[in-house]
Amino acid sequence: MDYLTAVRARFGKWILDLCERPYDQDWLNYQHEIAKRHHSLKKNKTDNVDAVPIIHYRYMIAFIYPITATIKPFLAKNGHSQADIEGMHNAWFKAVTLTAIFWTYPYVNAGEF
Ligand code: HEM
Repeated sequence: MDYLTAVRARFGKWILDLCERPYDQDWLNYQHEIAKRHHSLKKNKTDNVDAVPIIHYRYMIAFIYPITATIKPFLAKNGHSQADIEGMHNAWFKAVTLTAIFWTYPYVNAGEF
């Protein structure tokens, strides 16, 4: 449960960064760090836990769908127009797809870090 709580907090930071930060070198470096934390390069090390050793590549791609679909009710609850909600949802989908590309780098570039 401590592991889950710690990851949830960092997950929240990732959402805010993705929406609010400039996509600069610092942001890019942190995406690479998150990539390694899903891969066996660094999985479990941040929280010093004994969990599965790697999140497999196929799951990284599959997760784009639930992370995109589940955000919509949050975007829709503040009284924005339907057009704005669709626009925000599309921007989010693009940003999640972009980060999934960064996060799969260690899986497809073995040895190049
Ligand atoms: C598009 C796909 C995904 C997104 C957007 C996402 C998001 C995140 C974020 C933001 C973190 C925190 C990283 C940090 O700052 O330390 C994280 C860590 C983690 N995620 Fe994901 N994730 C994805 C895929 C998955 C999948 C498919 C699983 C498992 C089925 C998973 C399980 C985990 C675990 C266990 C950690 C903690 C890793 C560690 O030991 O440090 N993630 N994820």
